[in-house]
Amino acid sequence: MASSTPYTIKWGIMATGWIAETFCKDLLTDPAARDVHDVRHEIVAVSSSTSADRAAAFIKKIDGPASTSTYGSYAELVADPRVDVVYVATPHSHHFQNAMLALDAGKNVLCEKALTVTAAQARKLVAKAQEKKVFFMEAVWTRFFPLSIKVRELIASGEIGTVYRTMADLSFNETTDEDDGRVSFPDSHRMVNKDLAGGALLDLGIYALTWVFQTLYHVQPSSSSSSSGKESPTVLAAMNKYHTGADENTSIICHFPRSRAIGVATTSILVGTSPHGKTTAAPAIRIQGSRGEIQVPHPAFRPTSYSVIRREGDGAVEVVECPIPTDPKRDSWGHGMFWEADECARCLRDGKKQSVTLPWEESIAIMETMEAALRQGGVEYPEQITTDVYDAKSPLNTGNQ
Ligand SMILES: NC(=O)c1ccc[n+]([C@@H]2O[C@H](COP(=O)([O-])OP(=O)(O)OC[C@H]3O[C@@H](n4cnc5c(N)ncnc54)[C@H](OP(=O)(O)O)[C@@H]3O)[C@@H](O)[C@H]2O)c1
Repeated sequence: MASSTPYTIKWGIMATGWIAETFCKDLLTDPAARDVHDVRHEIVAVSSSTSADRAAAFIKKIDGPASTSTYGSYAELVADPRVDVVYVATPHSHHFQNAMLALDAGKNVLCEKALTVTAAQARKLVAKAQEKKVFFMEAVWTRFFPLSIKVRELIASGEIGTVYRTMADLSFNETTDEDDGRVSFPDSHRMVNKDLAGGALLDLGIYALTWVFQTLYHVQPSSSSSSSGKESPTVLAAMNKYHTGADENTSIICHFPRSRAIGVATTSILVGTSPHGKTTAAPAIRIQGSRGEIQVPHPAFRPTSYSVIRREGDGAVEVVECPIPTDPKRDSWGHGMFWEADECARCLRDGKKQSVTLPWEESIAIMETMEAALRQGGVEYPEQITTDVYDAKSPLNTGNQ
């Protein structure tokens, strides 16, 4: 008989920036508010690379537990025996070194997207997770939305026939009011700073690719010759570069000849998927099959509805709303990141080292796709963030302290 006591996992949070705050607020919501009763979450430690005071200010800001340990270095966090799983919430430039620091210490790891800067780094992290026999997953939260699960089920059940094409875009118009070709971020910002693996693709384009992959790759039967049995795409990319050298406007064609499918993933920081930022613009994602189409509105990372349009019929559009539950006891927090956290908890509870919803080989295949696109676009990142040699004392781990 199943236990009625929820399985609890204890989180250690690495970094105190924007996404760490958003994720932690979701961890602090009551799982029952999203009708989850089998797992729950505790934040037991937070670390900042800069100071323990910053970590303490962070936990206060999110009204986290007073018992949370607060550290001024990532090394102390990964050494904390109370921590079951480390959430890596640093810029993607840092993910390889930071995730390796945690895996090497024997910790389970949930690492923000983009998983790494290169595919070789991703492969090395997976190898380390295997060596240490720990759980490891890329934090592509959208994959775990009930909406995404439903869309994948509709495709698998043949609801729109054979899917031959997916077009997906995630773009934001970040241009200045002067319309001078600049974006509003300073050149030092992680969105455009190559030292922090800046650029539209690794930050935003990965969500467009997520939709291409979860509709054209993830759903493929695993029955043929490659290690996963799935067909990775060949990649044709076009990129324009911002004056910092990071990509500002990127389009990728993913070609799956065996399944006769093509995915088109686009991303930009010069124009928006939605000119006015609202969900009423044209669909952000079109999943096109022989018997119909599924459309998903902007933003691709956090959609709250989808539509099904069938070939046979009177042209009716079936719109399905998928609101994200909030916790009234927590000031209506609820961003949608809790579902990926629940997945981590269930994997740990069940002794799984990877999630079937976002398996290691698929994260690597997406990194390979992005790497190919960056190569074709001529974007080169600095050696410090592309090396696949782990260094516990790298400034990316120590914050130059
Ligand atoms: N899943 C999502 O929806 C989502 C949304 C936004 C971002 N992200 C991902 O989350 C990661 C962090 O993004 P963010 O928006 O949270 O960034 P952010 O606000 O700039 O925070 C990044 C944090 O990383 C730490 N850090 C360590 N070295 C740093 C350095 N040299 N420069 C800047 N920060 C440094 C800092 O925390 P300490 O000083 O405490 O160490 C900083 O607060 C990125 O990989 C991004 O792609 C995901």
